[in-house]
Amino acid sequence: ADPDPLQDFCVADLSASTSVNGFLCKPASNVSSDDFFFDGLSKEGNTTNVFGSRVTAANVLSFPGLNTLGSSINRVDFAPGGINPPHSHPRASETGVVISGQLLVGFVTTGNVYFSKVISAGQIFVIPRGLVHFQKNVGQEKALAFTSFNSQLPGADVLPLNLFASTPPIPNDVLTKAFQVGDDVVNSIKSKFGS
Ligand code: GLV
Ligand code: MN
Repeated sequence: ADPDPLQDFCVADLSASTSVNGFLCKPASNVSSDDFFFDGLSKEGNTTNVFGSRVTAANVLSFPGLNTLGSSINRVDFAPGGINPPHSHPRASETGVVISGQLLVGFVTTGNVYFSKVISAGQIFVIPRGLVHFQKNVGQEKALAFTSFNSQLPGADVLPLNLFASTPPIPNDVLTKAFQVGDDVVNSIKSKFGS
């Protein structure tokens, strides 16, 4: 989904004060092997949170060697019963592989058709660009998956947080009308996310 590169690589200089569509390249003379390797996905993520999951991202912000290359990867850890809540990536399709555990993977089309399947170690899935999707650990043990994207920075609109934990908040009268519930329900949901 990202634009094609015009050179072999362009390791991001994240500290540069200007950028265009992506990041400026650091001088090639300062580039070393370490710019193309990243250890940040080797450790289990902390799943002690309301969702019982943790996404650890290797995107251009954490792994600057990805700049201009149209690619990134996440590690997703799940506690038993944990979910990666409904979200969408505005800039990328997602492919994923389950390493361990059983995951219910589902997405919904723009026409509100729901597709889903429970998959396990070695099995893969694809989420078309921009569509709302989730994963839920339906096994008894922890689960682990890796997901990859055709963007250096796919972005994630996490629906519960977008709608109920934005800064500043979406007014309650918008949310009560949108979801056909009372202020009590909206306030209760908002409170779960600390706002
Ligand atoms: C999983 O859906 C992810 O975005 O990593
Ligand atoms: Mn995703």
